[in-house]
Amino acid sequence: MGLTGVTFLVTLMMLTAVTIPANGCSPADQAALMDFKAALNEPYLGIFNTWTGTNCCQGWNGVGCDPNTQRVADIVLRGESEDPIYEKAGRSGYMTGSLSPSLCKLDGLTTLIVADWKDISGEIPACLTSLKNLRIVDLIGNKITGQIPANIAQLSKLAVLNLADNQISGSIPGSIVNLGKLMHLDLSNNQLSGEIPADIGKLSMMSRALFNKNKLTGSIPNSISKLYRLADLDLAMNQITGSIPAQLGSMPVLSTLNLDSNQLSGSIPNNLLSSPGLNILNLSRNSLEGLLPDVFGSKTYFTHLDLSYNNLRGSIPKSLASAKYIGHLDLSYNHLCGPIPNGSPFDHLEASSFSNNDCLCGSPLRTC
Ligand SMILES: *[C@@H]1O[C@H](CO)[C@@H](O)[C@H](O)[C@H]1NC(C)=O
Repeated sequence: MGLTGVTFLVTLMMLTAVTIPANGCSPADQAALMDFKAALNEPYLGIFNTWTGTNCCQGWNGVGCDPNTQRVADIVLRGESEDPIYEKAGRSGYMTGSLSPSLCKLDGLTTLIVADWKDISGEIPACLTSLKNLRIVDLIGNKITGQIPANIAQLSKLAVLNLADNQISGSIPGSIVNLGKLMHLDLSNNQLSGEIPADIGKLSMMSRALFNKNKLTGSIPNSISKLYRLADLDLAMNQITGSIPAQLGSMPVLSTLNLDSNQLSGSIPNNLLSSPGLNILNLSRNSLEGLLPDVFGSKTYFTHLDLSYNNLRGSIPKSLASAKYIGHLDLSYNHLCGPIPNGSPFDHLEASSFSNNDCLCGSPLRTC
C-alpha cells in the first residue's frame, strides 16, 4: 500500500471515529427525556407509549436526533393533528403537568414544540435560555404561567417564539429586541402588561408580530415602522393609547394591521388608507377622530376595512367608490354624515356597514 493509501485509511478511521456514534441516543439525553415525560400526564392518546427502549433516536414519537451527533435536536408534540393516532380523542389532545427543567440538559435542542395540549401549566423553565441552539420555541395553547425569561436574548438563533394562548404575565422583556434572527413572534392571548419595547424596530428579520389580547399599555413605538419585512402586526384588544404613527402607512410589505379595541386617539394617517399593500385594516373600537382622508383610488384593495366604533366625522370620500376592491367595510358607529358614494365596490355592502352614524344617506340606507 502506497503512502496515499495509508493516508486514506487513517483519514477514514478518524472520520469513522468522529461521525458514527457508539450507540444511538446519548444516555444523558435519554434520561432528560424521561424526566420531561414524567412531569407530564397524557391520559387519552398514549403519545408517550413509544418512549421505551434505549434508543430515543429511533421510533420515539415526537423526538428527532441530529443524524451526525445523535443528540436530541427536536421535540415536536402537537395536541391538534390530523394524525390517525388522534382520532379517538376527536383530533384534539389533552395533557396536564408542566415542562420539566430537565429539558435544559438537552443542549443540542433546536426545536421545542409542545403545542395545544390545553392544560400544561407551570412556568417556562428559566434555564431554557441556556439552550443556545434553539431556533423554534412553540408552546401555544397551554396554561403556562409566569413570565417570559428576562434573558431570552441569549437564544441568539431563535427564529420563532410562539407563546400564544397561555397565561403568561409580566412585561415583554426589553432584551427581546436583541433576538436578531427572530422572524415570528406570537404572544397573543396572554396576560402581558407594560409597554411594547420602544426599540422593537431592531428586530429586522421580523415578519409577524402578534401581541393581541393582552393588557399592554403605552403607545405604538415609532420604531415598528423600521421593520421592513413586517407583513402582519396585531396589537388588538390591549390598552394602547396615543395616536397611530403615520410611518405605519409606509411599511413596504405590511398587509395586515389590527389595532382594534384599544384607546387610540388622534386622526387616521392619510398614508395608512392609501397604502396599496395593506389589505386588512381594523381600527374598530378606539377613539379615533377627524375626517376620513380622501386618499382612495384604483389601487385601494381591502379585504377587510373596519373603522367602526370611533368618532369619525365628515362625509365618506367619493374616492372610496373608485377602489379596486373592498370586501368587508364597516363604518358603523361613527359620526359620519352625507351621501354614501355610488360605485361597484359598494354594491354588495349592507346597511349594517353604515348604520349608527349621524346623518348618512343613500343606498343601502334611506334615500337622501
Ligand atoms: C375588528 O375588530 C372588532 C373589535 O375588536 C371586531 O369585533 C371585528 O370583528 C373586527 N373586524 C373584522 C373585519 O375582523
